[in-house]
Amino acid sequence: MLKGKKVVIGITGSIAAYKIPFLIRLLIKEGAEVQVIMTPAATDFVTPLTLSTLSCKPVIIDPYKQSSGEWNNHVELGLWADIMLFAPVTANTLGKMVNGIADNFLVTAYLSARCPVFIAPAMDMDMYEHPSTQNNIASLRSFGNMIIEPQVGELASGLSGPGRMEDPASIIHVLTTFFSKQNRLSGKKVLVTAGPTHEALDPVRFIGNQSSGKMGFAIAREAASRGASVVLISGPVSLSAEMTAIERINVTTAQEMYEACLKHFPSADITIMAAAIADYRPARPSGTKIKKNGDSLTVELHPTKDILAEMGALKRKNQVLAGFALETENELSNARQKLIKKNLDLIILNSMNDPGAGFNGDTNKITLINKAGNVVAGALKDKSEVASDILNAIDELS
Ligand code: CTP
Repeated sequence: MLKGKKVVIGITGSIAAYKIPFLIRLLIKEGAEVQVIMTPAATDFVTPLTLSTLSCKPVIIDPYKQSSGEWNNHVELGLWADIMLFAPVTANTLGKMVNGIADNFLVTAYLSARCPVFIAPAMDMDMYEHPSTQNNIASLRSFGNMIIEPQVGELASGLSGPGRMEDPASIIHVLTTFFSKQNRLSGKKVLVTAGPTHEALDPVRFIGNQSSGKMGFAIAREAASRGASVVLISGPVSLSAEMTAIERINVTTAQEMYEACLKHFPSADITIMAAAIADYRPARPSGTKIKKNGDSLTVELHPTKDILAEMGALKRKNQVLAGFALETENELSNARQKLIKKNLDLIILNSMNDPGAGFNGDTNKITLINKAGNVVAGALKDKSEVASDILNAIDELS
């Protein structure tokens, strides 16, 4: 699976750098071509000579070749690579990557990457658990990078906890799995909806919900990384989906979501409705700000269109349609009913009774029910992994 793949490995100044020579050996054995880049601090932990010998290429550390004064071209490297793997990555470099602080060759190469990027953080547990580090990891993930989570175990500091870089064999497994899925959706158009809708009460107030859009964005990214061209229709969220294969359409109301969905649905091979679309909207939004006068206020609400049900009715034989069901009681039977009523191929059940699942967080816990009646209950996972499970389930439908 890795034969002929061009892999850039970026090493930063962490003790876990000692594992990288093994990783390079495994990559070369698998038939990959490896170009190593290092931060100057990384050279204190593992020698460039070891790495250049194993990778059969000179290691790049400085922006300039010291001997000739010639420029090392990070843009060219960005175009050359099939993937970039930054491992191990220190808290310092995570911060630089998030903020685009390009004061070494490694960060300039990261910023020039056009290919999928994997990041394997490694540091002491308190540094890893610090909100600054966690925010930086969440930002890097939101940029579309794939994070190879560190493992829990003994650390160089003598403490024991999360922060150990994943072992070379497991990193190889992550990369192999990635390439095996990469082209599964090439040539396919995937339509994904995400986030809430806002239904205006007056010019300054709306009825909305707590959806962050994270689940839908993770699905869009996963579909794009599997080679699909993705249309992501998003309600108001503060997330970015910076991948060239993702065309993002921003909407505010359920009606706007409906119009955008119906425009793209006929040409979509796969549609996944992760948006939390309002079921009701104010019947007569006020054109001016509603003033309080001490009396109670009654707002008449009218139903919005059930977009998923309408798509289910329009669905052609070769189209796959998946929806979510957010339930608080009788979860499985309610989800099954939605699957049948809306003519879906797959329903993704979210129970509000599961801690860490549903809106807003970075994790989710889902149960997948397909039209054949198969039920697969998942564990609590990062939303990017949940997105992968959903696309695997869709893959298995055909
Ligand atoms: N959905 C939709 N249009 C709506 C409301 C929901 O397309 N107006 C979609 C959602 O994107 C989701 C699925 O329908 O994929 C189920 O949403 P959910 O809120 O769980 O169920 P509802 O069908 O709205 O039913 P209820 O709120 O009564 O549970």
